[in-house]
Amino acid sequence: MKDRIEKLLEEIQELKAQKEQEVEEIRIRLLGKKGVVTQLFDEFRTVLPEQKRELGQILNKLKVVATEKIDELRDMISEGGSTGKSEFDLTKPGDKFELGAKHPISITRSEILAIFNKLGYAIADGPEIEDDWHVFGALNFPPEHPARDMQDTFFISTGENPVLLRTHTSSIQVRAMETMKLPIRVVCPGRVFRNEAISARAHCIFHQVEGLYIDKDVSFADLKQAVLLFAKEMFGDNVQIRLRPSYFPFTEPSAEVDVSCNICGGKGCNICKGTGWLEIMGCGMVDPNVLEASGIDSKVYSGFAFGMGVERIAMLKWQVRDLRLYFENDIRFLKEFQTSV
Ligand code: DAH
Repeated sequence: MKDRIEKLLEEIQELKAQKEQEVEEIRIRLLGKKGVVTQLFDEFRTVLPEQKRELGQILNKLKVVATEKIDELRDMISEGGSTGKSEFDLTKPGDKFELGAKHPISITRSEILAIFNKLGYAIADGPEIEDDWHVFGALNFPPEHPARDMQDTFFISTGENPVLLRTHTSSIQVRAMETMKLPIRVVCPGRVFRNEAISARAHCIFHQVEGLYIDKDVSFADLKQAVLLFAKEMFGDNVQIRLRPSYFPFTEPSAEVDVSCNICGGKGCNICKGTGWLEIMGCGMVDPNVLEASGIDSKVYSGFAFGMGVERIAMLKWQVRDLRLYFENDIRFLKEFQTSV
């Protein structure tokens, strides 16, 4: 019986080879060097110009049909079936699947949060639509402060305690102080809104990360140490920081933090405008008025706070020159950051 089976298999193989040969003969007869279709193409060169268009079209069609038919016959033979082309070919390569990339702002925000998580900071959240108290009042902004101006802030309602889009993430520190048990050590990421004309350096929507640490005996030295650690983790071990005196209503004393320029190494270039320094954040010791406004005894507790723009950190890290690129969804720009995290 084995013999008979093997013989049959051989016969089938031979049949297949025979059929393949037949198809090849058809191909040569039609499309070979001296095939009929090829000859028609030769003849086509001599037809009158006014006939070229029409004849050219049908001649091309003939070639396509002949080629397709031959391919179809070959497929039929190699699959051994009678159904023609298989519609479900598991041997074909799969469809290309484009994997997306993380947005540079998400990457940078995750990096900032990861650095502070290592230092023991938890993550706190708050609403984007806020009231005047949490954005300004509790943060020691006097009633006439220009930040409350319609020119700077998007108001949703006016009146006694207006509702508005938060202009900074400092509102989350107020919510943290109101609700969390002391000591508090949090970082607060979020989207913020300002009534700004959109340009390469400003946008009406951007992202910040706020930090807050409140405990007994927290000093300015602790703030400086936290900021230095952050700068080193973010921009590399060789980075230096400097603190410039500044003013914020909610901190006293207040400072602006600069890092040594990572492009020129502090020598001075067009990115750092020749100064060798790049501003990365604002910070300071939480004003006792701010602690008291949220019910924290400022005689027992002290703390520091800081706030930074995520777009700015990402710009400095990757030398992005135009803020608008972050919002344009241009895949060529977004792909540049694929390997970063
Ligand atoms: N809220 C400030 C801003 O949007 C940034 C800031 C500065 C936050 C100093 C702070 C701080 O917590 O201490 O410009």
